[in-house]
Amino acid sequence: MLKHLRLTNIGPADTELDFAERLNLITGDNGLGKSFLLDIAWWAMTRKWPAEVNPRLTSGKVALPSEKKKKAEIDFSFSGVVKTKKHVSTFEPRLQNWSIPPGRPANPGLVFYAMADGSFAVWDPARNYWKTKAEEALDRPPAYVFSPKEVWDGLQREDGTWLCNGLIRDWASWQKENGRPFKSLTAVLAALSPSSVEQLSPGGLTRISLDDVRDMPTLKMPYGQEVALVHASSGMRRIISLAYFLVWCWEEHLKAKELLGEQPETKTTFLIDEVESHLHPRWQRTVIPALLQVMSQLIASAQVQLIAVTHSPLVMASVEPIFDERQDAWWDLDLVSPKGGNVPVVTFIRRPFVRLGDVSRWLVSEAFDLGSARSLEAEEVLQDAAHILSEELIDHDKAKALDAKLRTLLGDTDPFWIRWRYVGEKQGWLK
Ligand SMILES: Nc1ncnc2c1ncn2[C@@H]1O[C@H](COP(=O)(O)OP(=O)(O)OP(=O)(O)O)[C@@H](O)[C@H]1O
Ligand SMILES: [Mg+2]
Repeated sequence: MLKHLRLTNIGPADTELDFAERLNLITGDNGLGKSFLLDIAWWAMTRKWPAEVNPRLTSGKVALPSEKKKKAEIDFSFSGVVKTKKHVSTFEPRLQNWSIPPGRPANPGLVFYAMADGSFAVWDPARNYWKTKAEEALDRPPAYVFSPKEVWDGLQREDGTWLCNGLIRDWASWQKENGRPFKSLTAVLAALSPSSVEQLSPGGLTRISLDDVRDMPTLKMPYGQEVALVHASSGMRRIISLAYFLVWCWEEHLKAKELLGEQPETKTTFLIDEVESHLHPRWQRTVIPALLQVMSQLIASAQVQLIAVTHSPLVMASVEPIFDERQDAWWDLDLVSPKGGNVPVVTFIRRPFVRLGDVSRWLVSEAFDLGSARSLEAEEVLQDAAHILSEELIDHDKAKALDAKLRTLLGDTDPFWIRWRYVGEKQGWLK
């Protein structure tokens, strides 16, 4: 579980965070460093950059110092399975990489990373961790890192050995066996579904091409058809791949631990970028509580830490019933103008989580910083209207012109009309 990160001379700004034990939500404008922070969190716990393990990835590259001539540092600590690991890593220009802690690395438990573009990574202590020099020499993969295509079609090592069969083959063979993995997959899909009407449930196996010999799993759609997974919508594919990835990782972990004669891990850190990506508002409202529930159901007696990036006010509103200041945190990235300085600085702020109830109130909160939850044009005209209403002597011609504009921009039932009409009728510029 990640406890602490301090970044010096890398990324958009120097920053320091003490993570909460369970849920960490990260908000902030585009380009301020949210995904970058997840990459660093992954690296701190696994010692490899995602794109270093799988060069087919288009993100997750090694972090480079902002100013080449200055010292760059990543100071991190995580609570491992045995003890808390603290380390200050410095960038080594000649290696173009970061110093890693000497000696046997600490074991942070299972680490999952779901990237914004559909890539996935897992670090499994049973399969990516060495305890002795002899084990290190076995050349095990340092982590399992999948590009979006590899999640579906399988992951191979350079020598051709298969590390993972991929979603399509595994789902079909699990379905034929109808054992524990298929039961877990069905349960995880059901738990991650947006509602009982729109339940993600497996249909029969089918073939989609004369040239593809794979049995293709299908999903039962609410409109009565069974749709091949490769034809499923973007939102469904995002959730299906997430469900498969979690079940595959956990099943392989169980098998590996059985071979090793050890108990499965209980500590799990899950980094998830743009958690709402492709999801309808109904789904955005359920995804975080469902993920927390799924992780604790799937992984027996799990201690789960979820670090999730979001651009969605619905995601923020959705955690109101479960948010607990003692184990959860909301981190907001903002551009802050320093006193006397003219260049704004990117700043990570741990904001107190206040229940706002309404999603539109989340839009105008510090999380998203919008002036209003309306169109930009309506927002501007309403500002003019509010300005006119605050004047002692209202210019009737100006008010009438604004009234015409408001009619083109506001809906008939907009609450603003009540005040506008009351003042207009009283003063006689509205009949
Ligand atoms: N490998 C890297 N080395 C150094 N800095 C990087 C690296 N990758 C990203 N950055 C920094 O992070 C910034 C982009 O941040 P990031 O991709 O995390 O944005 P974001 O907050 O996730 O935005 P969005 O909401 O659009 O996804 C870049 O402008 C750059 O300053
Ligand atoms: Mg991002």
